[in-house]
Order: sequence, then structure tokens, then C-alpha cells
Amino acid sequence: MPEAPRLDARLLAAARLVKPGLPAADVGCDHGKLAAWLACTGTCPKVIACDLRPGPLAAAKATCEGCGCADRVELRLGSGLEVVRPGEVDTVVLAGISAQTTIEILQAAPWVRSAAVRLVCVPATKAPVLRGWLWRQGFALRQETLARAAGRWYTAMCAEYCGAPREPGGMECLLGLTYGQPGAAGYLRQTAEKLQKYRRGLSEDPAGAAAVDALLRALQQQEQGEK
Ligand SMILES: C[S@@+](CC[C@H](N)C(=O)[O-])C[C@H]1O[C@@H](n2cnc3c(N)ncnc32)[C@H](O)[C@@H]1O
Repeated sequence: MPEAPRLDARLLAAARLVKPGLPAADVGCDHGKLAAWLACTGTCPKVIACDLRPGPLAAAKATCEGCGCADRVELRLGSGLEVVRPGEVDTVVLAGISAQTTIEILQAAPWVRSAAVRLVCVPATKAPVLRGWLWRQGFALRQETLARAAGRWYTAMCAEYCGAPREPGGMECLLGLTYGQPGAAGYLRQTAEKLQKYRRGLSEDPAGAAAVDALLRALQQQEQGEK
């Protein structure tokens, strides 16, 4: 019997956003735990687990063999979605990758701009940048789940293409759909700390500094409202 690996809260949040009963791709699969979990639990009949480097792919192979689900996980070596053909999967997971790399991977695969494809993104850094990009490119952010792992807050985002690009506000980018969720106060505090750090580098940019100060004030008001 396949035995699903244990996932941390971050990967579990991502796994729960995957479309059940349909094939998925895990891009940047590394250790392969998410791919193995999706296959072992029967969430996906097939998982394409991809990574840029052979070392992580070998680790993913060992994970899937150890869990007894190797027959349902296809391992592919290559960059981003270059190794996945349009129509092969219904969900694309990009977890533990920076917002910038996530954007580059999505930009290089125009086929993800389809209402039939669900994106599940758990950026390792700069979630606000990814939210803003998704909205400007015509994706709708359907759901977010906050998760705490290794002492940090992460957000698992579920997005689908709706073809209606829009310019989001600064607070929307910073906090997305995380308002009112368990962990929202901690996530807000972490976001404010990162923004304060960014603000310290803006001494030569008065206009940028003023815009960030306004966002910091809005975050502070939001934090007081959450208490
Ligand atoms: C920090 S690990 C994240 C592993 C796993 N997804 C998780 O969230 O725990 C990032 C992985 O992404 C892979 N990676 C980085 N850039 C990539 C790209 N352009 N295409 C495919 N994989 C990539 C790295 O080789 C590494 O194995």
C-alpha cells in the first residue's frame, strides 16, 4: 500500500488547493514529497514532477519509490514548464520558488492562461510581487491559505486565468486574500517587517519612500483593527 509522506503545513496547504481527480505538475519538486503525497493519497491519478537539476530529481525518485507511488509520478528534468505539454495537467504547483522565478516560468508557458488550468503558488519570497503580477496579467486569485513552517508565514495561492487584467492596490498586493484567516495577524506583522526593511533602502527615492510610508501606515491601521 502506498504510504503518503508527511508534509509540512506549507506543502499541505498547497496540496489541498490542487484540483482533485486530475493530473498535476509539481514544478521545482526537489525532494518530491508533494508529488508523492498527491499520488499516494489518490488526489491525482498522475503527477509530473519536474526539476531543473538532476540531484533533486533523483531525491524525488527515491521518495516516490519509498512511498510506493512511483508508477503514478513521472519525473522530468528541465526548466519550468518547458517539460510539460499544454493539456497534460490541470494544476500547476510552484512551491518554494521565488516570486521572480515563478513569474518567469509562467511567462514562458502561455498555455497556463486558460480557465482550465489552476495555478497553486507558494512563493518562497515576495508574495506581494506575485499577487500583483497575477492580477495585472488577467489571473483571478481564487483562494489563499496561510501556513506557518520553519518559523515563517507562507501563503498558498490558488489562481486561475479569467482574462480580465486589473491594476491592484498596494494593500491588496501586500495582503491578498489573507484577511481574517487564522494567522492573518502574524502574516501582517511579517509583511510589515519586510516592508520596513525595504523602506530603509529608499533614502535616495523620496517618492518611493512616501508611497511605502503610506502603505506602512495602512498596515498599522489594519493591525490595530485585527486586535
Ligand atoms: C527550495 S526547493 C523547493 C522544493 C519544494 N517545491 C518545496 O516547496 O518544498 C526549489 C527547487 O526548485 C528547483 N528550481 C529552481 N528553478 C527552477 C526552474 N526554473 N525550473 C524547475 N525547477 C527549478 C530547484 O532545483 C529546487 O529543487
